[in-house]
Amino acid sequence: MDLFTEIEDTERDEIRTLRKELEEANYKYYVLNQPTLSDREFDVKMRRLQDLEKAYPDMADASSPTQHVGSDLGGNNKFASITHRYPMLSLANSYSQDEIQEWLHKLPANVEIVCELKYDGLSISLWYENGLLTHAVTRGDGVRGDDVLNNIRTIATIPTHLDAAIFGGNVPSFLELRGEVLLPWANFERLNQEREAQEEPLFANPRNAASGTLKLQDPNEVARRGLACYLYYMLGENLPGKTHYERLQSAQQWGFPISDAIRVCHSIDEVMDYIHYWDTERKNLPVATDGIVLKVNDLSTQQSLGYTAKTPRWAIAYKFPAEKQHTRLRAITYQVGRTGVVTPVANLDPVQLSGTTVQRATLHNEDFIRQLGIVEGDEVWVEKGGEIIPKITGICPLPAGDLPAVFIGTSSEPHRNLIGTSQLHCNGAEHAYSFPTTCPECGARLVRMEDEAAWRCPNELGCPPQIKGKMEHFVSRKAMNIDGLGTETIDLLYAQGLLHSIADIYDLKKEDIAKQERLGDKSADNILAGIEASKQVPWARVLFALGIRMVGETTAKKIARRFTSVETLQWATKEELTAIEDVGDQIAENIIQYFLDIRNLEIVNRLRSAGLQMEADEQAQPVSNKLAGQSIVISGTFAQHSRDEYKAMIEINGGKNVGSVSKKTSFILAGENMGPEKLKKAETLGIQLMSEEEFLTLLND
Ligand code: IVH
Repeated sequence: MDLFTEIEDTERDEIRTLRKELEEANYKYYVLNQPTLSDREFDVKMRRLQDLEKAYPDMADASSPTQHVGSDLGGNNKFASITHRYPMLSLANSYSQDEIQEWLHKLPANVEIVCELKYDGLSISLWYENGLLTHAVTRGDGVRGDDVLNNIRTIATIPTHLDAAIFGGNVPSFLELRGEVLLPWANFERLNQEREAQEEPLFANPRNAASGTLKLQDPNEVARRGLACYLYYMLGENLPGKTHYERLQSAQQWGFPISDAIRVCHSIDEVMDYIHYWDTERKNLPVATDGIVLKVNDLSTQQSLGYTAKTPRWAIAYKFPAEKQHTRLRAITYQVGRTGVVTPVANLDPVQLSGTTVQRATLHNEDFIRQLGIVEGDEVWVEKGGEIIPKITGICPLPAGDLPAVFIGTSSEPHRNLIGTSQLHCNGAEHAYSFPTTCPECGARLVRMEDEAAWRCPNELGCPPQIKGKMEHFVSRKAMNIDGLGTETIDLLYAQGLLHSIADIYDLKKEDIAKQERLGDKSADNILAGIEASKQVPWARVLFALGIRMVGETTAKKIARRFTSVETLQWATKEELTAIEDVGDQIAENIIQYFLDIRNLEIVNRLRSAGLQMEADEQAQPVSNKLAGQSIVISGTFAQHSRDEYKAMIEINGGKNVGSVSKKTSFILAGENMGPEKLKKAETLGIQLMSEEEFLTLLND
């Protein structure tokens, strides 16, 4: 293969990898509210993907994350889903002031620019029908969102009805206001303090806290947390004014919460002054901001500039670089995670960063420390991105107060000094560092797989954080779903010596639980009821709950279908296992190793004696053969059931749910907004589309 073909292959692979990574990051950010990438890391990856897609136009794909906004629609949705009247888009963004100036230069001459703060919360669309606030819809996937009206009603500054007098008795029949819902810093900190006291997981930042709050089912709790809102966009018919600014002014007069920080600018210099002023001044605001939004003021110019698939061309966001500080690295300690990964932690001289005192930060892994050549006593740069755990981003060999000579990922140009995209600087101490050889929790000898950056403690069954991690996984919703047994309770019962392994859960006595601080009779009853109910959980989920490495939910289902009991699985050979779809050598090896360990066999035996479903239930066999032999693709969004439910319906009626359309596809169960690629393929191959109503009728007949 010549060099160019090789580069091309690598870049095409990179497109696929980036798409996967960004989808995953979107899901974790919008649905789980647990960001795994900082905003900056996300934006850099997105940029790279955009550039690569431009270079390989044949790989264009309408479902690429470059083509749609992230979705906050989760699996089991408890809110009514509403289709937006106008799609809810995102904004193009840049960390580079040069790029912002370039964007301004390309606009028609003499356009006015409205500068606004970019509030860091989540977007909301408020619908006023005949003067009444009737819906408050989250962005969702940009096309459909969740109606969280009852929660929005707790925000006192949002009018629940329009004052007819202001409109001379003629309130508009429809008006839509869009804006950002926020949790002010003070309320965020109070909430996290409460959660810390109750040993509940902390919110990483006010955005995640606002998002988690807006999705609560209990408006009283929402009210207690104290959300806030700023509105920045008005839509509807026959609206007053010819400019964006005039509209926001009207909205303010009508009683809507509009920020005072909005300015109309007439030159690039004015825009840059606004950016510089707020870069510092924003630190004194009661709410989080992550940039500045620039919008073309004149509405007809906006219209002629138009939109891309994802963003308006008439607006752009300048994102502030993440805040960083330098401080002294006192010591490196090591933390063992719930999966056995050992993470080096920097213990720092306390330093103020984004409003909080930072004393600990992650150093990621051995390679990171080696590449930086970092040693205890160094002056280091610490940065807080979107995550709660700050990171060390570089060493600072100059005396305190000077500019950094070495840093990673904090440059105002995203392509410079990023891990993986440029060489790292070294302070000459590279050779001096060695990662510990034994686990700081249990003393086992650490191992490092060839293709992994992390060192792991292999003592799965004897290392405290791993034992607790296994229990957490076992009781989790998709596994045994034992209500009431959360992380804190597991920690507590483990510390009391009542839980050593997942099998001990079934030996818990009411009095053991009830006598624990913060638990009592009611919690004990609740936990025991959850444990009892878990005995009905089907074999496939029990298999998933066992926590065999790399055996995820879907793989467990496939294995459980082939091996319908734990006895048969226990004796399965590598060949038999790898014959199952999705089971490769490594997974097969992990399963075999699991059942070779006598301690696991003992756990499995105890679970069986406790009454868990260790074999497939005959009754779970197909309820009909109506779909026998049919390969069915599910695409789009549905009103009556979730995708998972439709998948299950297909399976229990003898059909097979497949991911992509081919000539073997029997029909497509098509919801709203079906993917354009699938639609095109279905048309080309002449495959029938079936609506959800038709599908349900078919099954019910
Ligand atoms: S205008 C079509 N203005 O930033 C224009 N958005 O990264 C839509 N945001 O989804 C957005 N402050 O949630 C606009 N002053 C502001 C904003 C703002 C925060 C959020 C908004 C949007 C996201 C894009």
